[in-house]
Amino acid sequence: MLQVGVLASGRGSNFQAIIDAVKSGRIKARLRVLITDKPGAYAMQRAKENGIEALYADPKAFASKDDYFKAIAAELQKREAGLVLLAGFMRIVRKPLLDAFPMRVMNIHPALLPSFPGLHGQRQAADYGVKISGCTVHFVDEGMDTGPVIIQAAVPASHGDTEDSLSARILKCEHMIYPEAVRLFAEGRLEVRGKKVVIKGHEVPDGFLPLINPPIGQ
Ligand code: GRF
Repeated sequence: MLQVGVLASGRGSNFQAIIDAVKSGRIKARLRVLITDKPGAYAMQRAKENGIEALYADPKAFASKDDYFKAIAAELQKREAGLVLLAGFMRIVRKPLLDAFPMRVMNIHPALLPSFPGLHGQRQAADYGVKISGCTVHFVDEGMDTGPVIIQAAVPASHGDTEDSLSARILKCEHMIYPEAVRLFAEGRLEVRGKKVVIKGHEVPDGFLPLINPPIGQ
C-alpha cells in the first residue's frame, strides 16, 4: 500500500480532509507520518488524534536549507513514503527533497495557477478583482508554484469579496480536490508528460466546462 508523508505548518484542514478520505476508504493509502516546522502547529494535534506519527523538524538545527530538506527526505525514505503532500507547509521545498521524490511531491495552492502564485493567492485574486478564482493541486518542481497541474476547481469571486470571504469559499473546494488528487495518485492514474498531467480513465466531454476538473469521482 502507498505510504504517504505530509508536511504542514499550520491548522491542517487539508490534512484533515485527507485523513477523513483515508479513513472512509476512498483513498487506499496509509498516512505514515506528519512532519512540521512549527512545534505548535494544530496539524500535530490532528496527527496525534488519528494515530499518525508526528515529527517536529526544527529548521534552525541545520546548517543550511538544503541540509534541512535532506534530513526531511531521509525521514520520509525511512518510512518508505511513495508520496509527499505539502498541506499548508510554509517553506519553499529544496532540491534534496525533490530529487528524492521526483514528481512525488504534491501541493495545494489557493488560486488558479499560473495566476497568483506565492503567498496570499486569495488576497491577490480579491485585490485584482477577478471574477473567477479557485484552487490548484499540482506536483512540485523547483519553481514557485510552477509544477504540473493535476486538478483545479473554479470558485466565483465578486467585487464584494474580501480575502477572508474568498478564502473560505476556496477552502471548501481545496478540501474536495486535494483528497481527489491523492486518490488518483494512489490508484496509479496520474501520468506526467512534460508539463501536463494526464488522468488515466478520464476525459472531459466536448463542450463541457466543469467547475471542478476532473469532476470528483470519475
Ligand atoms: C490553504 O489555503 C492552502 O491552499 C495553502 O495553505 C493553506 C493551508 O490551510 N497552501 P490548512 O492548513 O490546510 O488549513
